Amino acid sequence: MAFPSPVPDLTGTSQLPVVEQMAAHFRDGIRDGTYPVGERLPTIREVAERAGVTRNAVQLAYRQLAAEGLVESTVGRGTIVAGEPSGRGPGLSRSARAAWRAMRTAPLLPSVPDDVPVIADFAGLQPDDGMFPTDRFRAALDETLASSGGRLPGYGDPAGNRALREALAARHAQAGRADPERILITTGAQQGIDLVLRTFTEPGDAVAVAVPTYPQLFGSLAAHGLDLVPVEAKDGVADMRSLRAALARKDVRLLYVMPTFHNPTGATLDLAQRRALLDVVSATDVPVIEDEYECELRFEGDELPALSSLDPRGLTVTVRSFSKGMFPGVRLGWVEGSPAVLGPMTALKRYSDLESSPFLQDVIGQFLRSGAMDEYLAELRLALRERHEHARDLVDRTFPADVRAIAPEGGLALWLAFPPGAQVDRIADAAAAEGVLVTPGRAFDPAGRPSRGLRLSLSRVDVDTISRGLSILARHAHAEAAGAASGGPTSSPLPIL
Ligand SMILES: Cc1ncc(COP(=O)(O)O)c(C=O)c1O
Repeated sequence: MAFPSPVPDLTGTSQLPVVEQMAAHFRDGIRDGTYPVGERLPTIREVAERAGVTRNAVQLAYRQLAAEGLVESTVGRGTIVAGEPSGRGPGLSRSARAAWRAMRTAPLLPSVPDDVPVIADFAGLQPDDGMFPTDRFRAALDETLASSGGRLPGYGDPAGNRALREALAARHAQAGRADPERILITTGAQQGIDLVLRTFTEPGDAVAVAVPTYPQLFGSLAAHGLDLVPVEAKDGVADMRSLRAALARKDVRLLYVMPTFHNPTGATLDLAQRRALLDVVSATDVPVIEDEYECELRFEGDELPALSSLDPRGLTVTVRSFSKGMFPGVRLGWVEGSPAVLGPMTALKRYSDLESSPFLQDVIGQFLRSGAMDEYLAELRLALRERHEHARDLVDRTFPADVRAIAPEGGLALWLAFPPGAQVDRIADAAAAEGVLVTPGRAFDPAGRPSRGLRLSLSRVDVDTISRGLSILARHAHAEAAGAASGGPTSSPLPIL
């Protein structure tokens, strides 16, 4: 995040103590708008390093500002300029202000210091660059351009290219009903979520969400003026009593779930658990978003029926994506659901962005037809299985005995559950200081509360890198178990996915 003047200049002749000078610098900056309401002040570490003072001095200055009501400090979120964000101009809608604030106050993640080499990046849910068949994707691009007969791609169908929808319907036929009319192409799963929210809710409504969950959902709900009603879950599986209580609330107009390769725990609901969940939901008229963002990445067991195919009410919609099975920059995904719901949803999409890139949809259709996607996915699944087994084996053998790795049936994420009392943030910070990035569980909590879990993404790490990274993490896990872990506050403004 760029700050116009990130640290106080302490080289002058002021006789004031350093803490006072720093507090004065930020106080003035807040008053004159250099640090706008909702903005995050630079991290304690950044100020200390750049201004050449101790972290303790910066902390004292920030505490002083907090006592004056000028900033709010929250563990893991940093120090935010207090007050209702006015945004950067007059007349902003409530929705724009809420989205702005959510983005500005998103939790800070551990980051590797500039002078430390990255040993293992277990943080991002991004694909392994080295594995993707770029040549075959380029061939699909060339083929698409060549077959257009020299005509530039034009506008398309707001529901998406028919050929791609047919291919996708056939692809997931086992898990649902193969019918292109049940598919709407979107700009990633994220737009799918956005459209479902717009289709079923009004500002002031609430959405029930099993927590922990996908962090970008928090800002989406805020931007739509929706409250989040947490449903308790253990290792990614919702507690039925808590679910019933949430659905009984009059303001709850939607339920968000991830039945397959849950983010962050990796858990998958079996058929009985899916039926049990739908039994509870079907007794209400609350629609469901089923987020199947990693639907292509199963490496264990058989594909299970989508909730949307089991819901007799036709009120469950499935959101899917090419981001994890292909790459996020392609920004394409799709929603599956009953035509009665998809029709109005397609209309909302039309008046939002006309349609998702028809050109890229053609390229992907070509890539699917060429067989390149399936060949790639077969290799990726094998690699993921090997990485997961290797990582779990290391956790079992080298971590404190009470740390559990939950075995997923697919996907990129491995969840490490620590015993009560473990300060996983300290472990994550200490590992980052040595070049190992992991995502602490608080990132997946709507209130940013500390949690007992760490999420490891195995998408960008081969087995050797996993070994190196986990040996460092294991050392800090043991130190924490012995009550000795330590690490300075760190930060990264990247979105947590
Ligand atoms: C659970 C979940 N849903 C949705 C998304 C967004 O996916 P997309 O890139 O397709 O918009 C992500 C991205 O990481 C995710 O983790």
